[in-house]
Amino acid sequence: MKRRDVLRTGAAAALSTVLLGACVAERPTQSRSIDPGSAVIGISMPTKALERWNRDGAHLVEALQALGYETTLQYADNKTDQQISQIQNMVTSAVDILVIAPIDGTVLAPVVQSAKERGIPVIAYDRLIEGAEGVDYYVSFDNFRVGELQGQFLVEQLGLESEAGPFAIELFGGSPDDPNAAGFFGGAWSVLSPYFEDGTLVSPSGKVPADASGWQQIGILGWESAKAQSEMQTRLNSFYSDGTTLNAVLSPNDSLALGIEQALDARGFEPGKNWPLVTGQDADKANVINMLAEKQSMTVWKDTRDLGDRAATMVDQIAKGQDVEITEGAEFDNGVTAVPTFMLDPLVVTADAVPELLVDSGFYTAADLGL
Ligand code: GAL
Repeated sequence: MKRRDVLRTGAAAALSTVLLGACVAERPTQSRSIDPGSAVIGISMPTKALERWNRDGAHLVEALQALGYETTLQYADNKTDQQISQIQNMVTSAVDILVIAPIDGTVLAPVVQSAKERGIPVIAYDRLIEGAEGVDYYVSFDNFRVGELQGQFLVEQLGLESEAGPFAIELFGGSPDDPNAAGFFGGAWSVLSPYFEDGTLVSPSGKVPADASGWQQIGILGWESAKAQSEMQTRLNSFYSDGTTLNAVLSPNDSLALGIEQALDARGFEPGKNWPLVTGQDADKANVINMLAEKQSMTVWKDTRDLGDRAATMVDQIAKGQDVEITEGAEFDNGVTAVPTFMLDPLVVTADAVPELLVDSGFYTAADLGL
């Protein structure tokens, strides 16, 4: 069993010391008795506009149906009111269990409360639901670890432990309404901040939060590629038009990285010549293709099949009245209650590892990637 005592910041600040290993949690919500043979599982996903959520939804349905459950899956176009209304309809139609990936984890407390009043267990999927007592479980990847991996990759690739620098870096944060984004930046900042303090890292745009809690200042709303592209264009025009070298860009996920890479392309940066290191997350297809073209340096891969399988297992354990397996000691304080959590480990993927990790595992076909 691997033990990591880590200091967490942001939305993940409530996380207690993480002891990686499995254990079981008593189900906090006494739900009405569920007949596994006829149970209907409600699934609420944020949007189809971001590639990964399409994967998540499809795989979750497949995994639950393979266990014999009926499912109802809805996407909310990244509109919080639409997601609330869709969830409320599922509650009214008396689904037996709810699996929710929130657009904004801070606005679902009332609808989650209505689920609790009807004895409907709720699993927060990938993103925590805050301020609600009726969140029974949370299943996600270790978001702080995602950021640590991105930060450590840049430290290694730039040689910061031995090089004096200074190296120029631009920092981006995730969507300000997404609690996961606090963990991503918190993890990266925990690794990179000492290099800002000693001057090894500098940011010509000056867009550097004073500490991890300031991540929303550099956030990109809705995780939108176009917004990231526009912000990167502005920074390139304002701070790099004199030929200043840009060594790296911290991008918390692939949709932002794609926009950043489009801005670099438009500005005439050339892979293998003056193209900076660019980080990412989610192993989206366009970004993996960019990695193979040396336009992205890495992505943090969270195999959404594992996330979906784990969520389906939690549903099955709840439906059958069994103890639900969680990660020992991993609980997230959502502001109202400590939510028992199952955390999965993310993995760094670089271009050379794409065939083995992403093709051999069946996540993509070679043809998907032009291999
Ligand atoms: C986060 C999620 C990331 C990425 C991002 C954009 O909450 O954990 O994996 O998908 O949203 O949707």
